[in-house]
Amino acid sequence: MKNLTRLAAAVAVVALANLGFGCGPAAAQEVTIKFSHVVAPDTPKGKGALKFKELAEKYTAGKVKVEVYPNSQLYKDKEELEALQLGAVQMLAPSLAKFGPLGVKEFEVFDLPYLFPDKAALRKITDGPVGKDLLKRLEAKGITGLAYWDNGFKIMTANKPLRKPDDFLGQKMRIQGSKVLEAQFRALGALPQVMAFSEVYQGLQTGVVDGTENTPSNTYTQKVHEVQKYGTLSDHGYIGYAVIVNKPFWDGLKPEIRTELEKAMAEATKYANDISQTENDDAMAQMKASGKITFISLTPAEKQAWVKALKPVHEEMAGRIGKELMQQIYQATGFQM
Ligand code: LMR
Repeated sequence: MKNLTRLAAAVAVVALANLGFGCGPAAAQEVTIKFSHVVAPDTPKGKGALKFKELAEKYTAGKVKVEVYPNSQLYKDKEELEALQLGAVQMLAPSLAKFGPLGVKEFEVFDLPYLFPDKAALRKITDGPVGKDLLKRLEAKGITGLAYWDNGFKIMTANKPLRKPDDFLGQKMRIQGSKVLEAQFRALGALPQVMAFSEVYQGLQTGVVDGTENTPSNTYTQKVHEVQKYGTLSDHGYIGYAVIVNKPFWDGLKPEIRTELEKAMAEATKYANDISQTENDDAMAQMKASGKITFISLTPAEKQAWVKALKPVHEEMAGRIGKELMQQIYQATGFQM
């Protein structure tokens, strides 16, 4: 509610600015980009956003100012997409699992369990025609897709060891708002619950949910390892982002400014993708050293049981995501049903 009131106020400010009521130091700037996101600054996405700010301001010689708002400071998951469409913020990097409510549910293909064996397979998709085509689909929603940024592969956490599919029975698991993730947990006999990222720590601490899945960097920076006893190194799925901008805003920029921002984005993308693995490895090391959570590695046979339990999710979701899109990805990654 508080966030919605803030959204209404921000929209009013944008409207006044458009009418020429802008004043104070910000008015001296040619362009201000508000970049809102939900994770900590000390994560692959948080650092990528700050790198983009640094380069965008440098390449435009200060004509563009980028204000980065981390940690859901401005908006939570769903609200930030509304704010982008309304023009209250100009740039976001939502997780690919959060585009369903926009009506571009094909992005949920990235949530399919065990679809990508590694980052190289993933990169073939994000850097190839499939990735480009997905970003193009955003245009009808008033959004321009600029880039894909990595986070990494997910771990499962709970207050009981999750070693076999049966261990999930009846566990309330927090998910992002993706139908594929919902199907994934239902396939394991768990009870998926959509919850905004900013509410996860408290949800786990108070027992509203029993467990969750995320990358090590998100798990560590949200202190989830302090309220979960066990983590399973399952690598069952991927979390990454699409960096997106309000299309009327982007199209309205002077071409020479847009060119510099595209250059800044290309370099920030390379940077974010280069650091993502190390960020996740460091987070794992920190959590292990904390002694607060016990990590479980799966034997090949245990992993096989997870794959067997989760593969049917692909077929179940084909109607939602599109068989053709799934086939294109299978061909590129070598995934076999
Ligand atoms: C989430 O679990 O909501 C995360 O994917 C958030 C993020 O942006 O990494």
